[in-house]
Amino acid sequence: MKRRDFIKSGLAFTVINTLSPWSHLIGKEKILNEELRRSDFGADFLWGVATAAYQIEGAYQEDGKGASIWDTFSNTKGKIKTGENGNIATDFYHLYEQDLDLLKQLNIPIFRFSFSWSRILPKGTGEINKKGLDFYHRVVDACIARGIEPWVTLYHWDLPQALEDKGGWTNREVIQWFKEYVTICVKEFKGKVKNWMIMNEPTAFTALGYMLGIHAPGKKGVDKFLKASHHTAMALAEGGRTIREIFPDANIGSTFSCSYIEPFKPKKKHQKSAARIEAVMNKFYLEAVLGRGYPFKDFPALKRIKKFMKPGDEEMLKFDLNFVGLQNYTREVVKYSLFKPVIWANQVKPEKRGVETTEMGWEVYPESVYKMLKIYASYPEIKNIIITESGSSFPDTLENGRVKDDKRKKYLQDVLKQVLKAKKEGVPVNGYFIWTFTDNFEWAEGFKPRFGIVYVDFKTQKRYVKDSGKWFAEFLSK
Ligand code: FCB
Repeated sequence: MKRRDFIKSGLAFTVINTLSPWSHLIGKEKILNEELRRSDFGADFLWGVATAAYQIEGAYQEDGKGASIWDTFSNTKGKIKTGENGNIATDFYHLYEQDLDLLKQLNIPIFRFSFSWSRILPKGTGEINKKGLDFYHRVVDACIARGIEPWVTLYHWDLPQALEDKGGWTNREVIQWFKEYVTICVKEFKGKVKNWMIMNEPTAFTALGYMLGIHAPGKKGVDKFLKASHHTAMALAEGGRTIREIFPDANIGSTFSCSYIEPFKPKKKHQKSAARIEAVMNKFYLEAVLGRGYPFKDFPALKRIKKFMKPGDEEMLKFDLNFVGLQNYTREVVKYSLFKPVIWANQVKPEKRGVETTEMGWEVYPESVYKMLKIYASYPEIKNIIITESGSSFPDTLENGRVKDDKRKKYLQDVLKQVLKAKKEGVPVNGYFIWTFTDNFEWAEGFKPRFGIVYVDFKTQKRYVKDSGKWFAEFLSK
């Protein structure tokens, strides 16, 4: 499907969904008003919660773990908005048994978590830290003992610092370093872990970490970003091939961030700006791994990446994933801007549009999930989509042991209705994982934004199931 068709169809959905007085007659809106039942999604639909090592584990120097770029970044003054760090986080390293008990109590069948590369290979390459592997054996075994299925992300942003010291993702050798790490993990766990995600949101960690400098490792510049991006895309595909070679029956996916992108007005200049943003935010890694190459047509300036490509690279970008992990939190409205060279585009901030936002300042827009599902389903190569992250942060208050997080509960329900609507229309969406289980360390934002369905008192590390968590448990029990 061409870029213009995407936008056209996107706009068409918006019009049908929000304006048409006949939409109820078509029957599609009915789902949005009905009460949700787990059974409507089918018996095989996968339900889970998602987490990431750096955001929960803590124990940042324990049992031989090497430093990651996030250890360095969060312990550098001025990098984290609240001045906090992830050294202890939610102390999952020590509290995993108790957290998994709670997960079980809430009837959650799948636990998505990530391995920390520098816990396993403290220097990123070379010597293996046996105690690091032992920890993940304990976590995986604890899942299995409780009947919870472990889904492992191999890379959720915490590159070993020793590798960053050699250039990190901007050093082409990273493709080999990643392969070495993936090989160790998959050989070690293939008897116990069937479901693997190669990487989490490559767009986010390359753009925030190597272009804007607001995430670890805090680097800036378009060339750094393009170089890191190409190596990341190559490593993603190589990681996939490596898993398949060692473990042909593995269920292999990777997760991608996406936001529904809407042009500010249906004018050519805004549409073109929106297409450029869409190329970077939604299409870049996805289309590369699908074998479509980089989206140069939508954003010709991206061709600058070619100077970091070697002959034969283009074919190596492709890997046939068993599932695509879709991660969505909001939408973006984009307008043409004369002041943003190269991209010539600007976000029209939610405040300016007067819409409701979450604590992250993201527009509350559950329809974005439906729209992105439709767009993903329009790629003939995509046959299996799992929503590997979806959630929201709102300020929570703990009163007498209870957190009445009605907004989060409603958001989750509204999103699930959108998922169901897409599923009924034939979109191959087969799972939904909430971001996240317990409140945790939200990267450069510190502990302030709470995304969990379980509240954490960070002083005592005590957990309290929020109303949203109680609702989810009840929903899953039926
Ligand atoms: C996603 C990240 C995840 C978390 C949520 C809120 O982009 O993958 O770690 O930070 O956003």
